[in-house]
Amino acid sequence: MEDHTKPVKIAEDIYWVGHKIENDPFQCHVYLIKNGKESILIDPGSNLTFKDTLYKIEQIIPFSHIKYFICHHQDPDITAALETIKHILNRDDAQIISHWRAIELIKHYNLNIPFICVERNNWELNANGRKLKFIFTPYLHFPGAFCTYDVKSKILFSSDLFGGFTDEWKIFAEDESYYDSIAAFHAHYMPSKEILIHSLKKIEELDIEMIAPQHGSIIKKHLIQPIIKRLKNLDCGIFLLTQTSTEIEKLRKLNKMLSAFLQTMATYKDFSELIKKFSKEINDILLIKSIEFYTYFLNKYYYFNHHTPLMWEEICIDNHILKYLGKSKSEYLKQNPYIILFDNSLMMPIFDSENNVIIAFIQIKFDESFSLDLETKEILQKISNFFTIAFEREFIRRKILIEKEKYYEISIKDPLTNCYTRHYLHEAVKRFIALQDRGEIKALGITFIDIDDFKRINDTYGHDVGDMVLMKVGNILLEEVRTGDIPVRYGGEEFLIMAICDDVSKLYTIAKRIREKIKNIKWPPPLDKEKITASFGIALREKGEEFKKTLKRADIQLYKAKQSGKNKICVDSST
Ligand SMILES: [Fe+2]
Ligand SMILES: [Fe+2]
Repeated sequence: MEDHTKPVKIAEDIYWVGHKIENDPFQCHVYLIKNGKESILIDPGSNLTFKDTLYKIEQIIPFSHIKYFICHHQDPDITAALETIKHILNRDDAQIISHWRAIELIKHYNLNIPFICVERNNWELNANGRKLKFIFTPYLHFPGAFCTYDVKSKILFSSDLFGGFTDEWKIFAEDESYYDSIAAFHAHYMPSKEILIHSLKKIEELDIEMIAPQHGSIIKKHLIQPIIKRLKNLDCGIFLLTQTSTEIEKLRKLNKMLSAFLQTMATYKDFSELIKKFSKEINDILLIKSIEFYTYFLNKYYYFNHHTPLMWEEICIDNHILKYLGKSKSEYLKQNPYIILFDNSLMMPIFDSENNVIIAFIQIKFDESFSLDLETKEILQKISNFFTIAFEREFIRRKILIEKEKYYEISIKDPLTNCYTRHYLHEAVKRFIALQDRGEIKALGITFIDIDDFKRINDTYGHDVGDMVLMKVGNILLEEVRTGDIPVRYGGEEFLIMAICDDVSKLYTIAKRIREKIKNIKWPPPLDKEKITASFGIALREKGEEFKKTLKRADIQLYKAKQSGKNKICVDSST
């Protein structure tokens, strides 16, 4: 059991002379370096604690032996006791050591003790041979904050740095779990991770035996490195403090969520990943059952949930809240609170970046009934901005995709006949050939189709009529092929069907049906006296055969069909 009523020797000539305040998680410490008539008092304390501090000092040395009063910054828990000190001090050469920025404030106590500025004394003090070095730790948590390193004992008097909030205070930190109380304090009092790391790096350069902070517990050597390492990863600077909350742990968690969102936004680009990561962060704080989304995109309503962010399911809206999707923000807020609460869920709108229109709603469902406090509401409001960016990015991506598909469609489909283009055939063929060569399909068939005497029809009746014939033949092809077959307008009046098949007979049957259908078309005038037919040439690709060669063999059969009187189907018998 630690005895806090007496000074505690923490190293040769160095004592804790603080005062324990009961039921206070924010203990403030004072340290004494016994150094003859040039003894040093570090962070003297306040009038709440000084009486006890004085009592402890007097058990070690007469108070008049203290020459230097180091004030690491100007907070009242460090300096308010100076007012008392000025009355009991009975030596003229005593000095207050601080940074000029703190001195500018401490002088308002109207003291009669002279100041020494650390920065004017080359950041060091020689107290009758005892050397102290001062380490500048700006903005932790005051612009002129610094720490003191005692060269002899290798103790760092770290002021608020490494301080902690703790309910069960002990003079010495027992294990690494002390980090938790440091984290709670630093997240609140230190402005940012970057600023903290800057000073931690300076501190790491010192050979430190022990850290004696002004709050929390003293850290012995073996715990120093692990704690610094963890501190470097702490997201501190709670810039989201609400006006009411004093719930430290909760604010820390909420703040952590916001930093996580920021980081996610910077590192993840993909919508699906963003939504999953965001949902996970929310879940860590709010313990949710599900997060669902409703969104409005290109005049349609969609639903998805956090497990399937890319599966946008089109829905109809008849809900009195969801009907505000795509409507103005002001219209919505006139009728509804920003966040709508049901028993076990909440509904929150996401506005577009110009803040005029509702582009989505997030519905968060909970296992149990949920009450919304001010902090959570503010945080949700903040994170909704991240969702705005995520949604708008996704809208742009989807629009580009739709455009691309449109152009692709144009490039693969012949606008007159709606059959595929030759360009597409060459793309598709690669896949089909690979399938056949891997043995996943038995055979690949090519059927060439050429309209007989098309040139005469074109020359006699003109291009419009010619186009009409091509269109009709194209339609028949589209009707007659099976799903998965590729009907192609190969060029001019020549068509082709690429098909997966077991043998040639199926291709022959399809060709026959097409030939009959074409022959039997009842043409409108001026073609009503014409009988239009087509010739067919079929070949199967051999495994490993160059596609060009298969085409050539089918083309030879087409030529044969033409030679033998047209309106015929010829099949390559070599396969
Ligand atoms: Fe402070
Ligand atoms: Fe402090």
